Amino acid sequence: MKQEFVELLRCPRCWAHLELTTFVETTGGDEIIDGVLRCGCGASYPIVDAIPRVLTGAYSQFPAFVERYRSLLNDISEETEIPTGRFERMQAETQRSFGYQWTTFSEMATDFKENFWNYLYPATPEFFEGKLGLDVGCGFGRHIYHAASCGTTMVGVDFSSAIESTYANTKHLPNVHLVQADIYAMPFQPSTFDFAYSVGVLHHLPDPSGGLQGLLPLIKPGGTGFIWVYSSARRFTNAVLEGVRVMTSKMPHTLIKTLSFVGAVVDRYGFILPYHVLRQVPGLKTVVERITPPRIKLYHQYPFQVLYADWFDRLAAPIRFYYSKSGTEELMQGAGFVDIHVTATGFYGWRGRGIRPRDV
Ligand SMILES: C[S@@+](CC[C@H](N)C(=O)[O-])C[C@H]1O[C@@H](n2cnc3c(N)ncnc32)[C@H](O)[C@@H]1O
Repeated sequence: MKQEFVELLRCPRCWAHLELTTFVETTGGDEIIDGVLRCGCGASYPIVDAIPRVLTGAYSQFPAFVERYRSLLNDISEETEIPTGRFERMQAETQRSFGYQWTTFSEMATDFKENFWNYLYPATPEFFEGKLGLDVGCGFGRHIYHAASCGTTMVGVDFSSAIESTYANTKHLPNVHLVQADIYAMPFQPSTFDFAYSVGVLHHLPDPSGGLQGLLPLIKPGGTGFIWVYSSARRFTNAVLEGVRVMTSKMPHTLIKTLSFVGAVVDRYGFILPYHVLRQVPGLKTVVERITPPRIKLYHQYPFQVLYADWFDRLAAPIRFYYSKSGTEELMQGAGFVDIHVTATGFYGWRGRGIRPRDV
């Protein structure tokens, strides 16, 4: 964690500044490796392996850290009354599932540049220059990497151990800051960011509207929000998938990984490879392009690992909501965005862009 990031962070319980105690830092003191962030309200959050963990019950997730610094953590009292209703159970399962997914498929197998510009449409590189932006649910860091490359200072938030992979993929970038935190308890003051985006996250939340409603106030009045969610357009495919997921989402992750490998191999050698070969046969290109489903053309651009990871995502994620165009617009309106613009990314998703009103 870079020293200057402490200034941006707030206690998610009371929004007060957090006081930093450093245990280990890099030579020169630019980056804090291990430490604690304390709040006057009594809350405290560990910094473990250079990432602040601003989560309820964070210490219990890092027993080795607690053991190592036991003598320096005497005053820390963890919240013992952590709620355990359905909402919290779904959140915990989602956290485990994506933690496994993005630490297993952590490598930047391709540069995802086209993917970034497609989801953040209609933003251009100029939009990002000199701004402060927020990536909510940053996964393994494929998008924050590109936003930061455009000269914006980026803050990435993810509540699962996916954040370790974002760190590994972005630690060389001086303008990227990361925090492990929950979209429902964000550690920032209102009106902090020039823009925020959340790609492929809201539809995995137990309460997508609540998540987006919590995000809007973090954007400055007049600032921009971008979202991307699954489309309900492929009714039959989605219905079959949901039928399969009733079983697979409850399976052990290692078994889902094996099934995902099989799914990816079938896609690769049953569809993508024939598409690749046949479109090069003289006279066949037009007909092959016409009959090949869009998803095969899409995955044709990506290495095997992307296909494999997406199969895992499909089969494992505990929650998946699907939206129509008007449903996506309502989601953004309900959160308080204005000047909303929703467009399709093929049949599989909707990208939405909205503005936080100035008069708030
Ligand atoms: C499908 S992945 C998308 C990752 C990334 N945005 C991308 O497009 O590559 C969803 C991510 O959202 C994160 N996530 C889910 N629920 C969250 C929550 N309540 N708070 C913060 N992050 C959350 C997951 O840990 C996961 O990394």
